[in-house]
Amino acid sequence: MSTPTISTGAPTRKKVTTLAFRQKKERGEAISMLTAYDYPTAMALDRAGIDSILVGDSLAMVVLGYENTLPVTMEEMLHHCRAVARGAKSALLIGDMPFMSYQVSVEEATRNAGRFLQQGGMDAVKLEGGHERAEAVRSITGAGIPVMGHIGLTPQSINQLGGFRAQGKTALAAKRLVEDALILEEAGCFSIVLESVPGRLGELISRKLSIPTIGIGAGAGCDGQVLVTHDVLGLFDRFTPKFVKKYADFHHEMQKAFADYIEDVETKRFPAQEHTVEMDNKEWELLLQEVG
Ligand code: KIV
Repeated sequence: MSTPTISTGAPTRKKVTTLAFRQKKERGEAISMLTAYDYPTAMALDRAGIDSILVGDSLAMVVLGYENTLPVTMEEMLHHCRAVARGAKSALLIGDMPFMSYQVSVEEATRNAGRFLQQGGMDAVKLEGGHERAEAVRSITGAGIPVMGHIGLTPQSINQLGGFRAQGKTALAAKRLVEDALILEEAGCFSIVLESVPGRLGELISRKLSIPTIGIGAGAGCDGQVLVTHDVLGLFDRFTPKFVKKYADFHHEMQKAFADYIEDVETKRFPAQEHTVEMDNKEWELLLQEVG
């Protein structure tokens, strides 16, 4: 029996583009997307064959330990984007515009979006909001920068939304989200994230748009799915949203590995002979003659 191998998918894979996103929707093929914030994770995702990697502002919570996404800055986002760009060569790379990097003026939004491509190595940007972002989306796409929209639960607006809660649950709220999605499509978005909305609404919006929707807690009717990688791997132990499917329990795996290491050091089982650099006997004798 041959040894099973993990497909690396890497060397032959073509670069995924925004056009490929659109074509996947037309062919009825689901788009896969996960977040990454560092080089090794980006490399593993890319080799596994992911369509797209989002350097999400969820970085603030799952990597930097903040309570919400508001404190993360442009400089911090760009720092992590560069690490991801060094690790992933084929996936479509999307940089998440942080709070207050696109809300003040259209000019600032366009300049900051440009920095994600020029300084962060990203292929596209994502920003949160509906009709109120149409002008910024037009300006950014006008500069040749692909934009992914994000509606429903928009974490940068938690103070307005009253916390991390599902959106679009009444007919009126759902109608507003349908309208926002259509406006964002018309403004030039190549795709839209739908976060934490009823499955039926996710499916309805996906049907109404010709650009692909990427759902997170928005049901199976979306054109693609995204999750926060730290939730998928069980790395973020503070809380896990209901819509997450956990594929591993790395937090506890990590804790166990650290405890084993500590025990090995304390009991002097580590380092063993095989972890130690050898010295030639002749050289050793010479040294002893020199220093005693
Ligand atoms: O910041 C993020 O990771 C996101 C995804 C949850 C869509 O915006």
